[in-house]
Amino acid sequence: MKVELKDIHKRFGPIQANDGITLSIEPGTLHGLLGENGAGKSTLMKVLSGFLSPDRGEIRLDNKTIRFDSPAEAVALGVGMLHQDPLDFPALRVIDNFLLGSPREFLLDRKYHQTRLAELANRFGFRLDPEARVSELSIGERQQLEIVRLLALGVNVLILDEPTTAISTQQRESLFRALSQLTEEGKTVIFVSHKLDEVKSLCSKVTVLAHGRVTGEAAMDCPTKELVKMMFGQVLTVGKRCEVRLGEPILELQNLSLSDWRLEVKDLSLKVQAGEVVGLAGLEGSGQQLVLRACAGLLRPSAGRIWIAHRDMTGRPYQDFIEASIGYMPAARLEEGLIAGMTLAEHIALTERGPSLFIDWTMAVERASQRIREFNIKGQPTTFVGNLSGGNQQRTLLSLLPSQPKLLLMEHPTRGLDMESMEYIWRLLQALTQQGTAILFISSDPEELLERSDRIAIFFGGKVRMMDTCGASLFDLGESIGGKGFE
Ligand SMILES: Nc1ncnc2c1ncn2[C@@H]1O[C@H](COP(=O)(O)OP(=O)(O)OP(=O)(O)O)[C@@H](O)[C@H]1O
Ligand SMILES: [Mg+2]
Repeated sequence: MKVELKDIHKRFGPIQANDGITLSIEPGTLHGLLGENGAGKSTLMKVLSGFLSPDRGEIRLDNKTIRFDSPAEAVALGVGMLHQDPLDFPALRVIDNFLLGSPREFLLDRKYHQTRLAELANRFGFRLDPEARVSELSIGERQQLEIVRLLALGVNVLILDEPTTAISTQQRESLFRALSQLTEEGKTVIFVSHKLDEVKSLCSKVTVLAHGRVTGEAAMDCPTKELVKMMFGQVLTVGKRCEVRLGEPILELQNLSLSDWRLEVKDLSLKVQAGEVVGLAGLEGSGQQLVLRACAGLLRPSAGRIWIAHRDMTGRPYQDFIEASIGYMPAARLEEGLIAGMTLAEHIALTERGPSLFIDWTMAVERASQRIREFNIKGQPTTFVGNLSGGNQQRTLLSLLPSQPKLLLMEHPTRGLDMESMEYIWRLLQALTQQGTAILFISSDPEELLERSDRIAIFFGGKVRMMDTCGASLFDLGESIGGKGFE
């Protein structure tokens, strides 16, 4: 199906998110949409998939002008979208979720649909248990389910908005294979990202957006430097990691054992000093998150001890960890970290409650404006956090952390951010380490881990190995993440 967008405009209050965008996508191709945070990519794709209606402009499918008033209408006309922050999934089983949006008369024959689900999933090498609960699926699996569901509803154009930010390397490979297969079958795929390497390896053509406008189009043998120029208008330099002197031990884990329903981390000992940055590497679900959550006081160890600044914190309540000046930043922005329907000022008011029972709103708005400036957030104190772009939500999360924590625990601190925002955030973090903050962070980006950590703890099936980043190569790290040296 051929897709054409003509002169699309969309404004949110003072922000012109799409400012006259025209582009056309050939049927049966994998087309990339590149652009830095806030460029207007998600907005444009929401317009194309019926989640937003444009202020002005035209959508044409196979040379026919169409109008949709809802995502369901868009799906009926063949356009389906996977969102950047997976929308809330109802507490359903996989099979029931699969049937969402299907015409009613089809709902009866569960066995038949189970087979259909299994067939579709198998075709793409996805493994989905129809009776599993959606809430227990990883983000990667939810994504596979959503793809299969949209295909079953007959979409011809599939839009994926930054689909690789939260999935494992294996899931990414199987996703990319599925996307290539889909275009071979004649479907049109639009791949939204700001990861140049992914777009380069996957797409045949790319359109670049900046500040709500198209700043370039290219066939995919275009050199990276050119693409970067189209995205940012200039070529960026990468900051150098500065040397920090390490101080007192801030965190000490002694023979720690942790487990949840699928995994066990056993007998882990680790010491982290003031000013030190330790990266936690590994495939999604290898134990990194268990360790981070235990350090945040959110998970009780089954054995061993946790010391923070020479105090035994083992088994203490979460509140004590907060009082010990520990900052924790979860991965799921809109599930655990932020509340979509609350404004920036409301978030500030809630995290900065003083001794009084009442909230001082003038103060909250003032503090919010200050954070907005400090963290370069594109929004107003009255903006709903759910309406910020992904990158700006991440900055908001960072702005809500305590200002000079002893220990900062972060899951994917720069996930989904473009290069410029990523640099910006690491500059903020480095300034903290120079004041003595110790940082433990999870990342699935090997380059980020190597570039930003002093040491890396590599997790594999609950086992942990330490690696010094000095002199280590991407190749060494990649091999260890894949399990080398854990036998
Ligand atoms: N519903 C909304 N209400 C108000 N402003 C919005 C809304 N949706 C998006 N915006 C603003 O419009 C601009 C473009 O946002 P959009 O989400 O389209 O960017 P993006 O290119 O997808 O960025 P990212 O890479 O960070 O996801 C941003 O400044 C954003 O804050
Ligand atoms: Mg977006």
